[in-house]
Amino acid sequence: MQPDWILQDAFGLWKEKFGDFEDIKANGPSSVGLDFTLYGFENVYGLPEHADVHSLKDTGENEAYRLYNLDVFGYSVYDKMGTYGSVPLLLAHKPSYTCGIFWLNASETLVEIHSKAALQVSVMDWDSRQKAVPKMDVRWMSESGIVDVFLLLGPMPQNVFNQYAQLTGTQMLPPLFSLGYHQCRWNYEDEADVEAVDSGFDEHSIPYDVIWLDIEHTDGKRYFTWDPDRFPDPVKMQEKLREKRRKLVVISDPHIKVDPNYTLYAEAKEKGYFVKDREIGNFEGTCWPGLSSYIDFTNPAAREWYSSQFSLDKYKSSTDVLYVWNDMNEPSVFDAPEMTMPKDAVHHQGWEHRDLHNLYGFYQQMSTSDGLIQRSGGKERPFVLTRSFFAGSQRYGAVWTGDNKAEWEYLKISVPMLLSLSVTGIAFCGADVGGFVGDPDLELLVRWYQAGAFQPFFRGHAMQDTKRREPWLFGEENTLLIRKAIHERYTLLPYWYLLFYRAYRTAEPVMRPLWVEFPKCQDAFAVASQYMLGNALLVAPVLDSGVKSIEVLFPGNGECWYDFRKYTRVKGSHRQKVAVTVAEIPVFQRGGSIIPMHTTVGKSTGWMACTPYELHVALDRKGFAAGELYVDDGHSLQYLHEHMYSHRRFTFSRNVLSSSSADKEGHHTVNCFLEKVYIIGLKKSPSEVTAHDCGGKKTVEFTYNSQLCLLSLENLSLQVCADWEIHIV
Ligand code: NOJ
Repeated sequence: MQPDWILQDAFGLWKEKFGDFEDIKANGPSSVGLDFTLYGFENVYGLPEHADVHSLKDTGENEAYRLYNLDVFGYSVYDKMGTYGSVPLLLAHKPSYTCGIFWLNASETLVEIHSKAALQVSVMDWDSRQKAVPKMDVRWMSESGIVDVFLLLGPMPQNVFNQYAQLTGTQMLPPLFSLGYHQCRWNYEDEADVEAVDSGFDEHSIPYDVIWLDIEHTDGKRYFTWDPDRFPDPVKMQEKLREKRRKLVVISDPHIKVDPNYTLYAEAKEKGYFVKDREIGNFEGTCWPGLSSYIDFTNPAAREWYSSQFSLDKYKSSTDVLYVWNDMNEPSVFDAPEMTMPKDAVHHQGWEHRDLHNLYGFYQQMSTSDGLIQRSGGKERPFVLTRSFFAGSQRYGAVWTGDNKAEWEYLKISVPMLLSLSVTGIAFCGADVGGFVGDPDLELLVRWYQAGAFQPFFRGHAMQDTKRREPWLFGEENTLLIRKAIHERYTLLPYWYLLFYRAYRTAEPVMRPLWVEFPKCQDAFAVASQYMLGNALLVAPVLDSGVKSIEVLFPGNGECWYDFRKYTRVKGSHRQKVAVTVAEIPVFQRGGSIIPMHTTVGKSTGWMACTPYELHVALDRKGFAAGELYVDDGHSLQYLHEHMYSHRRFTFSRNVLSSSSADKEGHHTVNCFLEKVYIIGLKKSPSEVTAHDCGGKKTVEFTYNSQLCLLSLENLSLQVCADWEIHIV
């Protein structure tokens, strides 16, 4: 008997050829689409992941941004092709209004964008006069599913972020260690290599938190196992890392080697947890281990089973300093159409892969993240990095931009790529520092560290055939520059942690395009060579070789900006050339902000729990500034279940700097001290400075630099989580 689809396929639409592959459409051909016109808008953003500009381009005739998760090794830059992940959210912005369109569909999706200049169209105004406005036409088309679309009405950027977060969730609050520096390579060869690299950081006084093991650490690419020759005693290796207050991340991919003697395979097969082919046998395709089957993460029972594999008794020789990296989860299938799973493969409850392709990686990260929480008895925060993602992946961990190249163009494109992720909810994102494919020239490597230190997920990574790339291998001068960049990252951790807390609580992006902070500043709408970290820091990475200066836009109207390191006030115009040296990338603090920092760094975040704090108070034109600090234990879920946190507010007003609680619900106290305060932009020297806390009043030592208008206060010894005031008289 003929299968149903052949009987029904009178027009030849129930199957499609793709090279040598045949896609059988068991439910018949389908597609859904909808057109939107955005009147008055010239800038639209979002739709990650594409290696393209931030303010999305007119897609022109017969072209579209493609949302189809694919493993694209060394992807092309300035391209609309789909890469590893998809978020079908588009934001539109104009000075008076921001809105969003969230197209909830996980099948292959194309988005056409057509902008029409002001004079080409007109709409009738209420009073019947003709009014010329620009417009953007946006056409969404998906291969299957239904039209399920949410219009996010803003009207401000932050409202759109909140509205989107109500639908998909906010960024999970990461454990503090994961905001430090991560050292990865494909591969760290064996236990001796891990130990040598780990000690290298100490010998060169470079802090780092996590060393990563790629696929070669396993026994024949069987995840959850160890290569017995290279890693004979993984527990000892992890215990040594624990002593150094550091962590290990290991890779766990979704393809499972077809091997009846491999317990994971045998169990999944027996329980029916693999994706099926269209004949309802287990789908088999090739990936790193050779012939593999793929766990069906869309099946809740399979997810639960996979989660349980991370328990300490099941995952042999794992300890609780081990965290996880989900790679190849588009999913990547080397011998299949476009190197991914055929669309006619079949999932739980009969869903075709075509219906949910873009969700596959999302579900693997969900299951891994749940597994790490369960492993700890529900007590600890997970850390899971994923390559593939979908709307909502922010709830489960971090995302990185995959196999970039060690070329300047890739450093440059990393900024708009991360900004697009950031405005679509994925706050914890980063790009491989140094570039994954190929060997970077030294200037590029240093510039990449300097840029990466100011991006949310900060990991050096390199491919198998590249030269070793640990930060101290490039001569004293370069080691010094990389050390400086990583040190700066660690001194800024209190600010990073606050930004992540705010991302979790209020859906604010950590890394922000200028238009988000300066929604009326039209010059800023298409800028993606610089960005804001939170609302206080303007970061302008050096993205070209050999430059002596870069052009920086100082956004806003009436803002004051200060050099973050020298405290000098930026004078001159809105857009100006700023001199750069090899030593650092330009960073500016916005007048009106207060940034919490650490005074020194330790070997890793674990050594910095009691490191003293300092505040950088940059005054605006009215002599005012405000900022916050968020502190908790850095690793557990007690902030969530027991309100074990302290969220502080600092304000500087009428020459009084005060610290008060920003959230009365939080009740965590730490015995940490604020030692230094820098007040930047203070017009005249005080005659006296006094500090007031529950212990009474004390006089504070100070120095005043009249050229910089900088007041420095030292040896304050004020409890960082307590109420206090500093009076400047
Ligand atoms: C591809 C990933 O993108 C890369 O980061 C990793 O090193 C290799 N897979 C090997 O696991």
